[in-house]
Amino acid sequence: MNLRFALPALIAMCGPSQAADWSAVEALFQDRCTACHSGEFAPLGLRLDSHEGVMAGSDNGPVLDTGDVAGSALVMRVEGRAEPQMPLDGPPFLAADEIALLRDWIAAGAPGPAEPAAPRAPEPPPDPMADGRITYDEVAGIFARACILCHSDNSKMGAPPEGLRLNSLKAILAGGDRVAVIPGNAQASELIRRVEGLSEPRMPFNGPPWLTDGQVALLRAWIDGGAMDADGVPAPVPVGGRVRFRGTMTGPAEIDGAPFRLTPDTRIDDRPAIGTRAELRARVGQDGQIIADRLRAR
Ligand code: HEC
Ligand code: HEC
Repeated sequence: MNLRFALPALIAMCGPSQAADWSAVEALFQDRCTACHSGEFAPLGLRLDSHEGVMAGSDNGPVLDTGDVAGSALVMRVEGRAEPQMPLDGPPFLAADEIALLRDWIAAGAPGPAEPAAPRAPEPPPDPMADGRITYDEVAGIFARACILCHSDNSKMGAPPEGLRLNSLKAILAGGDRVAVIPGNAQASELIRRVEGLSEPRMPFNGPPWLTDGQVALLRAWIDGGAMDADGVPAPVPVGGRVRFRGTMTGPAEIDGAPFRLTPDTRIDDRPAIGTRAELRARVGQDGQIIADRLRAR
């Protein structure tokens, strides 16, 4: 190898011109940010999947200031000087050299791609219902964008409320203080009751905006289809898991459209009439049915 030619190339690779390269920044955003910061439901409207998106900033305004690198919202978030720290699904958060890359790039004026990207026709988003079944990977983005802000160990509330983490399939199925998802029984799943506002407070807690009808339909289809993992394997029913509903009686043994089973052991205090408010404490049966332990007027 001829050092006289190799050395300048090496210096160029380590120098600021390389660090300020959009393609390196784009690769980092793709790797750690665009799972959430892209598309129609990007948090705070911030899209990090194109140079234009980054420059457009969020609903709050620009996220970078080339004259004040340290004060840029984006830098403050990845350094944890503004909470919650990004990426929201961390730890791990960004490594020191990744943060340095972002800082150098902003200091260099946040340049865009060398060649302007060829205009591409927007691709229609894939239809998750196309194959007639919904798997976890097709709903994970809803939890990432709308729920894990609070329901994870990086929770802005300090700890995940009601012990409920929504940042992995395992955590969602495990539930928190109570069962949140009953595979095969969306109507009786507290997670659905919360996003539809049947249980108060409605989720996401920082809404509106609430989930769209399309997002709720997707979550319903996923749960009714057995809460399948990415490979299409349905989740086990959490037999014996505890549930609690505060809602409206819609039948003699039905709360907000979810039937439950009364047994001789069910304790009933002032039996709530149809159309009135009730509290039901129950557990999950073999088949995902709801077995009432205690029913009372509220
Ligand atoms: C798992 C989803 C997720 C990932 C991954 C993620 N974010 Fe975020 N991001 C959010 C959410 C949700 C918010 C809104 C938080 C809030 O309401 O305070 C947010 C807010 C932000 C904000 C604040 C915008 C403003 O107006 O103040 C910045 C900047 C940001 N993210 C940058 C990033 C960067 C850079 C990455 C990758 C290194 C990243 N995010 C990865 C979900 C995510
Ligand atoms: C801004 C924070 C925040 C966000 C975002 C959020 N939650 Fe919550 N969540 C809470 C709080 C606080 C509670 C406890 C409320 C109560 O019952 O007093 C809660 C409770 C719940 C419960 C009830 C748990 C139980 O055992 O009773 C479910 C289910 C739930 N959230 C689902 C979701 C879903 C699904 C999303 C996203 C679509 C979401 N949450 C987004 C803060 C949040």
